[in-house]
Amino acid sequence: MCGIVGYVGSNDAVDFLIAGLSKLEYRGYDSVGLSVFDHETILTRKTKGRVDDLRKVLTSRPLHSATLGIGHTRWATHGEPSDLNSHPHGNFRVSIVHNGIIENYRQIKERMIRKGYSFSSETDTETIAKCLDYYMVQKGEPLKAISKVIEKLEGSYALGILIKDTPDTLYAIRKDSPLLIGLGDHENYIASDMTALLKYTKRYYLLEEGEIAIITKDSVRIVDCEDFLEITKEEHYADWDEESAEKGGYPHFMLKEIHEQPDAFRRTITPRIIRNTISFERDNLDDRTLASIRKFYIVACGTAMHAGMIGKSLIERYARTPCDVVIASEFRYQDPIFQDGDCVLIISQSGETADSLAALRLAKQAGVMTLAIVNVVGSSIAREADFVIQTIGGLEIAVASTKAYYMQLSILYLLAFKLAALHDLLSSQELADLLHDFQHMEDVARDMLNQSGNDQYLASLYQGVKSMFFIGRGLDYGLALESSLKMKEISYIHCEAYPAGELKHGTISLITEDSMVIALASSKAIVEKTISNIKEVKARKATVLLVVRDDVEVAEDAYNQKLTLPSYPDVFMPLIEIIPMQLLAYYMAVLKGNDVDKPRNLAKSVTVE
Ligand code: G6P
Repeated sequence: MCGIVGYVGSNDAVDFLIAGLSKLEYRGYDSVGLSVFDHETILTRKTKGRVDDLRKVLTSRPLHSATLGIGHTRWATHGEPSDLNSHPHGNFRVSIVHNGIIENYRQIKERMIRKGYSFSSETDTETIAKCLDYYMVQKGEPLKAISKVIEKLEGSYALGILIKDTPDTLYAIRKDSPLLIGLGDHENYIASDMTALLKYTKRYYLLEEGEIAIITKDSVRIVDCEDFLEITKEEHYADWDEESAEKGGYPHFMLKEIHEQPDAFRRTITPRIIRNTISFERDNLDDRTLASIRKFYIVACGTAMHAGMIGKSLIERYARTPCDVVIASEFRYQDPIFQDGDCVLIISQSGETADSLAALRLAKQAGVMTLAIVNVVGSSIAREADFVIQTIGGLEIAVASTKAYYMQLSILYLLAFKLAALHDLLSSQELADLLHDFQHMEDVARDMLNQSGNDQYLASLYQGVKSMFFIGRGLDYGLALESSLKMKEISYIHCEAYPAGELKHGTISLITEDSMVIALASSKAIVEKTISNIKEVKARKATVLLVVRDDVEVAEDAYNQKLTLPSYPDVFMPLIEIIPMQLLAYYMAVLKGNDVDKPRNLAKSVTVE
């Protein structure tokens, strides 16, 4: 999704903007641009393509001696990726970069056309720029003009703004789209994502709706957008180090993050396991509150939703608390029937996913308890949920989520066991035994990572495959969904995930000798049933990769290749099985020469509906 950076200081603004934009590349984008003040004149360079393309533009049309500027990576929503649609937008008087979507842009555009403005792009953003220009001419004063613009806009926005009359000042506003103000030493910054700023500062303010930031080299003032009264802000500190935003010797962030999973797992669970019991007190979530929950709506998108599916199985199995897992974009329009004791559990790595945030707000409006599992501290979901359980494993940069999934699962295990203990469905000894095995998963995950050679070999066998089916039952079905998503996200192979027993009710008609089936059979309790389903696809001459626990004998004619998993209690198998599936997707994408960390059309954090 789109990214914003901005700089005001004494150093070269272009250098900062290019470095910041490079850090935001991971979010997914299709064009890029920047505006700076060059001798009190606003100059803009922008292009379709990547940051490297912008570098080329800057080589042919250089910008010198700028110490104030804004930059943007665009992920097209209104209008195709093109030079003209790229941000910044504006003219000699104003220049803006925008994240979000302006819902009433047509009305504003028509109004501006009536006022004599013409438009060169198809974007909603250009209407904001023209509107700001209009009010600058009318009001002659930046704060008044910005305030008028805020009054007119409907939708979501984070805006970085340059105004010709104030060549030493950077302005910023936001609504429903993140924007941070980085605090430096004789220089200050804005960014839609802390990753862009980690190299320069860890101190920041969170800008809120209805506030205008007025930022110069030596000062940051935040004022109310109606009466311009000064607002005192709380200073925050980002405890992520810059290293987590670097590849650290790995060829891709995705591979680095897959390898970080055992550590992230330990860091997430350790503070919440105290002498063989589980405590969410550090998350301000006391036992009474947890015990009062009668039903969960687990609401999330993408990989986080898949973690929620495993969470549902765990919570229902151990705590006997009913759970519905609902895709956030559906939940928000479903008019759910809430009852006393309901809890809406939002799972989100970024904490900014627009649909998940809307679902959270819907629940809050209905007066339902909200709990969020979030990785990014200070994100909108983390700030707005009643209770937040933070995953503690550092930044996730690769668009295809791996480490965040692992950490989300870790919390869901703890939650399920904790609820079960609270409802007296687990004795202290049973809980201690479960926790013992659970903690051991860190070592098992490390062993799985050491066997990545198997995945490289399998990827070399399957690299020509055009379509894949992932099948499994129970927890394996949840894993099939996530494994299939990983594969399609980065290898661009068409994949479907199916409950193994459901295939015969229609989809098996697609199985031919050209089909590839990845059959997940990690669960001992139902392994025989799954194997029967595998035989059904094998009989139709599909190529079968069987992923199976090593304490189960399977006749050799039931599969073409086999990947064995160490045998642990069924409940823990997802934590083991996901690793080779992530690695397989990764190596397939590498062999196909795809851009693993920035797959086409995808964005790390989807901040539009
Ligand atoms: C995007 C990402 C996915 C992610 C989903 C939910 O689609 O590409 O990897 O799972 O958003 O993101 P969240 O930040 O809410 O977990």
